[in-house]
Amino acid sequence: MDPELMEKFEEMIKNETIKMGEIQGVPLPANTCHVWDLIKNFQAREDDILIATFPKAGTTWMQEIVDLIMLNGDVERSMRAPCFIKVPFIDVNAKPLMSGVEAANTMESPRLIKTHLPIQLVPPSFWEKNVKVIYLARNAKDCMVSYYHFQRMNKGLPDPGTWDEYFSSFLAGNIAWGSWFDHVIGWWKAKDERQILYVFYEDMIEDPEREIRKVSNFLGKDLTENVLDTICQHTSFNTMKKNPMANFTALPSFIFDQSISPFMRKGEVGDWKNNFLVAQNIIFDVEYKKKMEGSGLHFRTEL
Ligand code: A3P
Repeated sequence: MDPELMEKFEEMIKNETIKMGEIQGVPLPANTCHVWDLIKNFQAREDDILIATFPKAGTTWMQEIVDLIMLNGDVERSMRAPCFIKVPFIDVNAKPLMSGVEAANTMESPRLIKTHLPIQLVPPSFWEKNVKVIYLARNAKDCMVSYYHFQRMNKGLPDPGTWDEYFSSFLAGNIAWGSWFDHVIGWWKAKDERQILYVFYEDMIEDPEREIRKVSNFLGKDLTENVLDTICQHTSFNTMKKNPMANFTALPSFIFDQSISPFMRKGEVGDWKNNFLVAQNIIFDVEYKKKMEGSGLHFRTEL
């Protein structure tokens, strides 16, 4: 990255409070809202693959897996660049440093693209071009805990406040990319009408090989046992935690301050139990039942 632009960005991030905006009632970083027309009019290509998630559902994990599937398990080539360069994040506008849309526009096909947008905000050209989408969902309790720690260290998002404050904000959908409930339900409802593979983080933890095979079948790639094994090993939590191309240590600490909380934090199902107070769990379960009733969508919060 251009050192001069980096310096400008550092100044900006240190001196400005991160503001939020809103698109069609969905809270998004103000910088994203400023370039909304550019995002909305993004031109997808037929051979793009879109990875869509609510933040902290395991996006980076899925990116590494899909990249390796496309490379038929070539680990060396998968290490060609940090994950945030290999896979443009079209919602992000970290000007003057980078805009996800501009990064994607200059990329050769086939492209892997990342979004956290709820389904109703996805640029229409993805549907016009019938692009394959992998939606990865993670249970709300673990997502909330992961997002809280992420907002503590990510200087590009607002400070999360106390855990208690964050708990209320998350339940109310008053955080960047909005309501976890609307997000997972919206994508779930659309999955049979479009080319969407809906995957659960908990299933991936339970049996990564089975889920990686599912993803590769969806992408029409036939992997040998050897390749599948290589992909499993290279995308395990412990390997990714050590991989500078996957663990975000390539981003400077004024953006991700990993001394506060590492990006590759725990990678578990059920860490919420170490964070939720008994009373919070009761409030959460009541609210969850109301919001998820009739959705037909079931998450596991422990294995
Ligand atoms: P935790 O904070 O619970 O550890 P995203 O990429 O969407 O931001 O998600 C980040 C979360 O996915 C973090 O969760 C991170 O540890 C977890 N994660 C990343 N790679 C993983 C892997 N290989 N296996 C399991 N979890 C992983």
